[in-house]
Amino acid sequence: MKRVLSGIQPSGQLTMGNYIGAMQNFVKLQHEHECFFMIVDLHAITVPQDPAALREQSEQVAALYLAAGIDPTKASIFLQSHVPQHAELGWLMTTIANMGELERMTQFKDKSEGKESVPAGLFVYPALMAADILVYNAELIPVGDDQKQHLELTRDLANRFNHRYGDTFRMPEPYIPEVGARIMSLDDASKKMSKSNPNAGSYIALLDDPAVVRKKISRAKTDSEALVKFDPVNKPEISNLLGIYSHIAGLSVAEIEAKYEGQMYGPFKKDLAELVANFLEPLQARYREVRQSGELYDVLKQGAERAQEVAQLKLDDVKKRMGF
Ligand code: ADP
Ligand code: NA
Repeated sequence: MKRVLSGIQPSGQLTMGNYIGAMQNFVKLQHEHECFFMIVDLHAITVPQDPAALREQSEQVAALYLAAGIDPTKASIFLQSHVPQHAELGWLMTTIANMGELERMTQFKDKSEGKESVPAGLFVYPALMAADILVYNAELIPVGDDQKQHLELTRDLANRFNHRYGDTFRMPEPYIPEVGARIMSLDDASKKMSKSNPNAGSYIALLDDPAVVRKKISRAKTDSEALVKFDPVNKPEISNLLGIYSHIAGLSVAEIEAKYEGQMYGPFKKDLAELVANFLEPLQARYREVRQSGELYDVLKQGAERAQEVAQLKLDDVKKRMGF
């Protein structure tokens, strides 16, 4: 049994990409490992957030964790900001990180490019992410492609700290989910499906009305060949839809291709729309139940208490080694 840590930013409407790429794995991992699943609100504020929207979105993410099947008796669910040890170790890690290596982070380059003023938090954010992981001695980190460089930096910082102050941090490893877990935009298969895309037609939000979902899928871009075949290089759009189908139906891509052999895209898309709508309906019903029940408050409180307990042990050790 390993210790697993991951999180999702409360920075918009969660999408099918977040579900397939992250939450679906969280649900599996909770049975095999000791899991900590955060709502990373301190990360979200590296770009400006409206306070009321941030609060609402944080509750949404937490409620969706539960609705998706994360069991608070099996995994700790908490808001990053409820565990002050993250920010405290985050500060200490900014003194270990160098300007040059932070400047090389491609996410920083992407998010700051062309901006007149860039929050300093966006720049030092990878030091906070390192703290998030290292404060729990987490070993297995489920991350998407976009976070691999940050995880590599976390390992560098852990090594540097260990070298300077003695063996303190355990080396975290990325947990790479199965192939095809990168879900692309419905309108442009060269970009990942993301809640931060201003075009709502580009993603399926987990809280989208089923009628909206059907419309979005029927309008999703496809090629003109009308052949349901998995070929990400030449047919990226239909391959992406096949990936979503496969993950939601629990069928292999080959099984789905066989099912639609000799058929056009129409029937495939119609079935996919039904599949996704039928998947979302119970998820949304459970979500509404969670929001109405008030159980969220207790779950987040217990999760934060458990997390603080574990994190404080590491923080005490780190501070002692640094001379506090
Ligand atoms: P977003 O990019 O939608 O703002 P986050 O950066 O908060 O999402 O990512 C939260 C988790 O969801 C990460 O583990 C990330 O890898 C995963 N994720 C986000 N978008 C996708 C996608 N399109 N396909 C697969 N996984 C995704
Ligand atoms: Na993101």
